[in-house]
Amino acid sequence: MKKSKKAKLLAVFATLSLALAACSSDQSSTQEKPAGDKTKTASEQKVKLVYARGKDVTKGTEKMVEAFEASHPNIDIEFREMPSDTGKQHDAYITAFNAKSSEIDVIDMDVIWPAEFAQAGYVLPLDRFIQQDGIDLNEYNQGALGAAQFNGKQWALPKFVDAGLLYYRKDLVKADEVPKTWDELLAKAKEKKGQGNTKFGYVFQSKQYEGLVCNAVEFVASYGGAFIDKNGNVAVNSPEAIKGLKKLVEVAKSDVVPGNVTTFTEVESDQAFIEGQTVFLRNWPYEYASANDKDKSKIVGQVGVAPLPAGDKGSAAALGGWMAGINKYSKHPKESWEFLKFMAGAEGQKIDAIYGGHAPTITKLYQDQEILQANPTFADKGFVDGLSAAVSRPVAPNYPEISEIIQINISKAIAGEQTVEQAAQNMEKEMKAALNK
Ligand code: GLC
Repeated sequence: MKKSKKAKLLAVFATLSLALAACSSDQSSTQEKPAGDKTKTASEQKVKLVYARGKDVTKGTEKMVEAFEASHPNIDIEFREMPSDTGKQHDAYITAFNAKSSEIDVIDMDVIWPAEFAQAGYVLPLDRFIQQDGIDLNEYNQGALGAAQFNGKQWALPKFVDAGLLYYRKDLVKADEVPKTWDELLAKAKEKKGQGNTKFGYVFQSKQYEGLVCNAVEFVASYGGAFIDKNGNVAVNSPEAIKGLKKLVEVAKSDVVPGNVTTFTEVESDQAFIEGQTVFLRNWPYEYASANDKDKSKIVGQVGVAPLPAGDKGSAAALGGWMAGINKYSKHPKESWEFLKFMAGAEGQKIDAIYGGHAPTITKLYQDQEILQANPTFADKGFVDGLSAAVSRPVAPNYPEISEIIQINISKAIAGEQTVEQAAQNMEKEMKAALNK
């Protein structure tokens, strides 16, 4: 799957797909043959699957697809790059699936989607396939597996788990200088900014989108607060949550972050780090692979990883992650399952851990020497324990609505359009209304 060729193919595919769907229900490739020739060539039996996910800034996806295609000569994978902003990606799928489109076969799903997708019937339950192939679900991290279950069925299989981490430049920050609290981070970022040609002290995701919610969950939890507590009650208007949000706003307004930090998602954050522009960065586990990719990174070998800074209560990481599911309208469910099984299975996850830095959901992979050698983060007990302590985002069937309330109110507080106290009050009121609908 070469990118430029692929991009062209995608454009052609998009234009032709409706016409093709109208004349044939079989999307397998065909070739002109002399009349009377009944034998099938290998290319005729090939099935092409469209696999969609957001931009992968690492080589993980490319390597996984290559390995799958090499061991499955009858299946070709066409990669469909979706918006990297998970909210926009979500909306694109909703539009396609509501139109019963069969164009995409396999998708990656964010941990916050399965309940909604299962309820709406967008994806196929996988139980039948899992049983037929004797997949041992006990091999999986049970939290990640559970996030893909709804109404007693398994709607997806987890590919990797995400938890927020602090990255830093090892050449600029000594091991004993790594900040342990948000205040230490602000001070160190100020002190180091400018060294080694850096432009920023700290970069994090504070655009108005889902990534901001993840960062906010981390600030709030590090001060002992929550947006919605374990019993499902709205808890955002508490002294702890307000302290956390105040710290977030303080960091966002400080002069250690880029002046336009409210336009930063993971993509811009990764870019700033690998180009050597920032001393510290908050991002997900894949950053280690991205920043050590010698084909694009200027800071190979200089990447330090640590837990996120603590508030009064301690350090907290937001729980994220992605799982693979099959479009209910796919014309190739059997082949889609083969591909999904490979990606979410040990072989695919190993490739993705090594080349993509993605944290496996199959627990035995944390003992795999090749993985541990490629990415020392996975050998770190603190990291592995941190994964199980990571904080989930509010669980609600109408999560997108809750998320939007959080995004809008925090963005207004960062922009100075309302105080953090007002933001907390508004969130409380709006979230209660949304949950009681
Ligand atoms: C990462 C996480 C995902 C989260 C997203 C926010 O992709 O895995 O769960 O929603 O970041 O930007």
